[in-house]
Amino acid sequence: MLGRLNHIAIAVADLDASTALYRDTLGAEVSEPDALPEHGVTVVFVKLPNTKVELLAPLGDNSPIAAFLERNPAGGIHHICYEVEDIFAARDRMLAEGRRVLGSGEPKTGAHGKPVLFLHPKDFGGTLIELEQA
Ligand code: CO
Repeated sequence: MLGRLNHIAIAVADLDASTALYRDTLGAEVSEPDALPEHGVTVVFVKLPNTKVELLAPLGDNSPIAAFLERNPAGGIHHICYEVEDIFAARDRMLAEGRRVLGSGEPKTGAHGKPVLFLHPKDFGGTLIELEQA
């Protein structure tokens, strides 16, 4: 079911500092910040030859990463995103396996304009997993 690693998302408190860290210290190509109000985050994409890193900073009052940053003030890996060929088939398989899909279970449009779902970290080794339609 799982395809390519689409991205690793890292929650950060200071987006400018984290962007500079990847761009200047680590020598990576980084995007301009992209505000995604419907997701409650501002994103900077770090482009790597084989995948992406997404730096996520909270945006607005109900950011889904606010609680994570309260627990992890220095930031940290928030989720990893795998591609799947068929997001609905993937969801149905997870539910049939007794695994929790977050939210309503209906895919939402993710940061790349494609349908995504999130899987409960307690069902997946303590890792929040995002599935994205390939
Ligand atoms: Co993501």
